[in-house]
Amino acid sequence: MDEIILKIEDINLGYANGKNYKKVLEDISFDIKKGEIVSIIGPSGCGKSTLLGAIGGINNSYEGSILFKGQKITGPSSNRGYIFQEAALFDWLTVEENIGYGLKLKKTPKNEIKKFTDEYIREIDLKGYESYYPSKLSGGMKQRVSLARSLIMHPEILLMDEPFSALDYQTRIEMQGLTLRLWEHYKPSIIFVTHDIEEAILLSDKVIVMSKNPGKIIEVLDIKFKRPRKIDLISDAEFVDIKKKLLKMLIS
Ligand SMILES: Nc1ncnc2c1ncn2[C@@H]1O[C@H](COP(=O)(O)OP(=O)(O)OP(=O)(O)O)[C@@H](O)[C@H]1O
Ligand SMILES: [Mg+2]
Repeated sequence: MDEIILKIEDINLGYANGKNYKKVLEDISFDIKKGEIVSIIGPSGCGKSTLLGAIGGINNSYEGSILFKGQKITGPSSNRGYIFQEAALFDWLTVEENIGYGLKLKKTPKNEIKKFTDEYIREIDLKGYESYYPSKLSGGMKQRVSLARSLIMHPEILLMDEPFSALDYQTRIEMQGLTLRLWEHYKPSIIFVTHDIEEAILLSDKVIVMSKNPGKIIEVLDIKFKRPRKIDLISDAEFVDIKKKLLKMLIS
């Protein structure tokens, strides 16, 4: 658990805006250990998605260094799964084909793809929906497919950018529970961007708080509740204290 899988050092990143230059990220440094779940919270526009994009290899124009297992990140890789707010499924593929897509690309034998996709479909509770196309699924179902499609590849790190923010409260809670359950399988590292403080505390070993203009880290809070965690943790007195503390930081 102590091996550092991702090392982020002194990231500075900005965008040219006509003649002006807007600094978005300033001196961002933190480490992620193997198996650790780290949430990033902060006001809209503070650069959370920009930072995730740099870690995902989508945006390479930054100063500083991002090392994944000691290697510079140069582009996207199946070692790093990416989940966005809107499930980016392939509309022309069924649930089963979407989930098995990455394995098919890797030329995994058909019977193995079937075995693994069946297993994940059961896990995400979509038995009976194998042959549905994404347009026939609810938002929560789509996000479950999206989670399964990423995790079936066993990425070492999963980057999640507000994955549940478009969902209603009940569905969001179910998705948080599912994420915790699936994480237990092989314990990938996760970076989880969210606006939801409760979600951040419930899921994480560490919550990183950012401020904006430019985006900086103002606090890194260790969350020490033992795992496996259940949703009723949110009414625990210590949980509520942490929530108050984080809320104060965000609104001050
Ligand atoms: N491609 C781009 N070109 C120019 N400016 C950009 C670009 N992408 C993002 N920005 C700017 O960078 C800043 C940070 O944006 P980013 O999307 O990373 O914020 P965020 O923290 O993810 O916000 P939200 O919580 O609303 O998703 C914003 O001011 C945004 O306008
Ligand atoms: Mg964002």
